[in-house]
Amino acid sequence: MLFPSLVQDDFLNDIESVIELSKKLPFKGPTDDFFNKINGGWPGERTDCLSVLNTNFYIYFCSKVLKLYYPGEIICFEAELYFQRIPSTFNFPGWIHQDSNQLSAVCYLSNHKDSGTSLYKPKNFYNVYSDAIDKLKKKSYRDSDFSEESAAARDAWNNKFDCILDVPSYRNRVFCFEGSKYHGVKNFTSENTEDDRLTLICFFQKIEGNIKYPAVESRKI
Ligand SMILES: [Fe+2]
Repeated sequence: MLFPSLVQDDFLNDIESVIELSKKLPFKGPTDDFFNKINGGWPGERTDCLSVLNTNFYIYFCSKVLKLYYPGEIICFEAELYFQRIPSTFNFPGWIHQDSNQLSAVCYLSNHKDSGTSLYKPKNFYNVYSDAIDKLKKKSYRDSDFSEESAAARDAWNNKFDCILDVPSYRNRVFCFEGSKYHGVKNFTSENTEDDRLTLICFFQKIEGNIKYPAVESRKI
């Protein structure tokens, strides 16, 4: 583990402008080409990467996240940043999973109280994510498969984990965590709103510079 999990509230300077920006951008769903290469790896819709759609905002957001870990350093990075919108019809939990990148960040933009992110620990260290599970997960997201069979498969997988942290989705909060940590969303919907769940999701692939890793340095003491 290199990065501690971190929460920062009141993250964006002007959240309303960011929401307005999201409304001007095209979102792509499971039937679009963009998604076909992933074939249902996540629920809902995403924009293209903001590095292409709005470079200035992309640099602003990614730099702002990295300042939380490295306030005094000049950092080079490679990252993907997307708006993600999950329709209010997705009234079921997500699949617990890992991200393939180093550090992930999610910024909650909509007014959902109960659609935060949770971290998990496998009940057995030899829990293995298989192709079969991956197929079931992608089918459920791609096809919005709310069937009992799909729910049973998801619950069987999710029940292999103990929840170790719940982070509520307060508006304008950013939650950063190491991509390899198992994580998931317990509810994509929230009782206090019928809006779609809107987030910014950021995946740092590379973080470079004259840096030290916070968790490594802490363990030296
Ligand atoms: Fe994820």
